[in-house]
Amino acid sequence: MGRLIIDGGEKISGEICVQGAKNAVLPILAATVMADGVCVIKNCPALRDVDKTDLVLERLGCTVKREGNVVTVDTRGMYDCRICEDLMREMRSSIIFLGAIISRCKKAVVSMPGGCPIGLRPIDLHLKALRELGVDIQEEHGYIKCTAEKLQGGNIHLDFPSVGATENIMLTAVCAEGTTTISNAAREPEIVDLGNFLNSMGARVYGMGGSVITVHGVEKLHGAEYTIMPDRIVAATYLAASAITGGEICLKNVNPQDMGAMLHVLGEMGVKLRCEADRIMQTAPKRLKSVHTIRTMPYPGFPTDIQSPFMSLAAMARGTSVFIENIFENRFQHVDELTRMGADIKVEGRSAVVRGVKELQGANVVARELRGGASLVVAALAANGTTTISGVELIERGYENIEKHLLNCGAKIRRE
Ligand code: UD1
Repeated sequence: MGRLIIDGGEKISGEICVQGAKNAVLPILAATVMADGVCVIKNCPALRDVDKTDLVLERLGCTVKREGNVVTVDTRGMYDCRICEDLMREMRSSIIFLGAIISRCKKAVVSMPGGCPIGLRPIDLHLKALRELGVDIQEEHGYIKCTAEKLQGGNIHLDFPSVGATENIMLTAVCAEGTTTISNAAREPEIVDLGNFLNSMGARVYGMGGSVITVHGVEKLHGAEYTIMPDRIVAATYLAASAITGGEICLKNVNPQDMGAMLHVLGEMGVKLRCEADRIMQTAPKRLKSVHTIRTMPYPGFPTDIQSPFMSLAAMARGTSVFIENIFENRFQHVDELTRMGADIKVEGRSAVVRGVKELQGANVVARELRGGASLVVAALAANGTTTISGVELIERGYENIEKHLLNCGAKIRRE
């Protein structure tokens, strides 16, 4: 396991060009299997999860080529419709292939995704919706076997606006007969990106970004060229990294309009922000102010994925902040590690009360999951002395060159 070693106390100031969004690139790469042609996907971040997705595509018989941040997928040779257990276990988001493979092959076999450190992450909403579109689903020996003689559009209501379920339904409905409506759909910007990509392949998907999405089935899709949207969670993590150190930062290749809830909280904590179409300039005060309450919610609410990096901000802010985690049941694993660094945080169920302390201390800490790991990096940048973060591989699932970007902005950071 790799480790990041950070000597805290340096201001994070400078310019960072933000990577493409992990949560957009994964479903979009899965969707390429529906093209029966060649897709050229630009602005693909070099991440472990993206490599794993490429591997899934290759195991299905597709040809995948990466040149820099451009991934070309040729799906004409695709011969398999199964995803085996090892890949499903390594990356839960492989479940998104289900809708894409059924769409193309009218059958799919994937292993049941296992548990996950941040919570149970069931897929009941995915399966219920696919059944409503005419898919026969058998759950046997840890595998999900799907067949569909004919995919038939329908009206689907989601009990919860699940991101993954909305994506799987869109993928399945694109080539179904007739029209599908998804009500209470997830509204995340990554859903809009997927819809735009599908439309660039010849699909007819409307209403993405709102809570009702309409999909008019088409016969087939063609290859396309597409540029992945910027990663709003990575952008907010770098804003947090600079804010906690009192730095001044400019982010390039961002969509500030996708980041409303996060920018609002940063403003409340006392940073000054200036946004342009694809840039954010931020100047932070010496010490941040606490924020009254942060509740994680589906988009456009405050994202669960940035809860932990922002908790590091609250840990050193003046005053007390309350965090309520409404999306995943086990997303406070960073708290024990932040406490080792001197943070004063009390967790009760889904709530955490964070009393800001003046200083955090460097310590040996462990990244237990992706965003929790990022929160430790943010805290370490401002802590007194040296912090060693083990489990870097988990952080690298979502952050491309995190160490290099922070180094360029003045951090004392190295990887071992
Ligand atoms: C996606 C993101 C993840 C983000 C999350 C919430 C990707 C690859 N991952 O995950 O980074 O944290 O959205 O914004 O895009 N649920 C069910 N049954 C289901 C599906 C979901 O009960 O069938 C529950 C989950 O347990 C969870 C909640 O719904 O409590 C949200 O999950 P969902 O929106 O589906 O998240 P993911 O798509 O897994």
